[in-house]
Amino acid sequence: MDVRLTGDETALWHAAARVLDANWTGRATVPSPGLYPHQWGWDSVFVALGLALHRPDRAERELLSLFDGQWSDGFVPHIVFNDDLPRGAYFPGPELWCSGADPRAPRGVRTSGVTSPPLHALAALRLHGRAADAERGRAFLARLYPALAAQHRYLETVRDLDGSGLIAICHPWESGQDNSPAWDRPLGDLRPPSPAYAPGRPRRGPATGEDHDRYAWLAGLLRDARYAPGFLRDEHPFAVLDPLVNAAYLASAHALAEIAAIVGADPLPHRERAERVHAALLDRLWDAAAGCFRAHDLRGGRPLPVVTVATFGPLLDPDLPGDVLRRLADLLLSARFAGAAGYPVPACDVQAPAFDRGAYWRGPTWVNTNWLVWYGACVQGLPVVADLLRGATLRLVRQSGFREFFDPFDGTGRGGHDHSWSAALVLDLLGERPG
Ligand code: GLC
Repeated sequence: MDVRLTGDETALWHAAARVLDANWTGRATVPSPGLYPHQWGWDSVFVALGLALHRPDRAERELLSLFDGQWSDGFVPHIVFNDDLPRGAYFPGPELWCSGADPRAPRGVRTSGVTSPPLHALAALRLHGRAADAERGRAFLARLYPALAAQHRYLETVRDLDGSGLIAICHPWESGQDNSPAWDRPLGDLRPPSPAYAPGRPRRGPATGEDHDRYAWLAGLLRDARYAPGFLRDEHPFAVLDPLVNAAYLASAHALAEIAAIVGADPLPHRERAERVHAALLDRLWDAAAGCFRAHDLRGGRPLPVVTVATFGPLLDPDLPGDVLRRLADLLLSARFAGAAGYPVPACDVQAPAFDRGAYWRGPTWVNTNWLVWYGACVQGLPVVADLLRGATLRLVRQSGFREFFDPFDGTGRGGHDHSWSAALVLDLLGERPG
């Protein structure tokens, strides 16, 4: 694709491309060398968006290799393990999930047993839009469509736990925002036997040991119940409706309808699903008194109090009512989010007691959530907000490199270095002119 860049942008482009080249394994891209050595679900989705402008053949392979890990019921895992790596290269590894023991899991590919935000169809459609060769782009969509449709069937039949139209996450990792303060209450309600977690195991990220006890215990519950739909619906103790995950689902349902039309399938069921999710998002997760979307704890039967960056996920909904949009934009620009941070958008309301500027999903700014809010602002026709987010994101990586996450006040880079989605989404942003 022909992208016009200034001199400074050209340097940034080459630096981002170098990160993606270095993190390519021959079949997929690792999120961060050393720290995350396997293939991660929503990372690959973001990576594919950047590869589409840099190495389009790899963009397609990135998504296809992720779907090599798809289970026969349509479930798409959040990790596809690379079996060439030594045992223990990452905890939790394949031993925690035991996918090999499940008849629905693919043969010869080991995966995790939880999923990640379903942005896959949205990415596939964007790849098609970027394709230099229209026929090749169509052929790629035709190849991927059955897998995407199966993924959405799984979400609709297995994850719509309360019949509202929204899909539930059954583990914090399924949100991609692992230790978000939004999960503090439902995690605090869990009663894992003690000790649920073998001490001395390598840890990653700044989640506390107790968080990790609960994460591992929850994963073990899912595994021991053989990931059975009835167990998820009726017994599993963690079930939350997250606005960002559901907005991703809605945007992908719209994208799937468009893909269906392109490949000669029926778009109608996907459109109907998108309408249902749209209505349920407003009905179940919109807090009109506070002017924000909140996650909802299905087990506790209550909205969750902490407002996080996930509240802006529904900007991806093209049918968002005008008054909801105005209030969300006000919140985004207020001193609780972008208005208080030199380097927006912080992962958590900076005025919330749980906010922590250095702690992973409890405060720092992430390139992937910035990209989602930027994309949402574009969907909503808010060019000034979109340009603010684009500029802030490029400034972060210019200052601190392609880090995993950043201090929202001074832009200091934190977590992993050479993080793939930070590089890939910079390519995607550079590919779009401001305004
Ligand atoms: C962390 C993040 C998750 C991401 C993974 C790999 O677990 O919380 O969103 O997919 O790292 O980058």
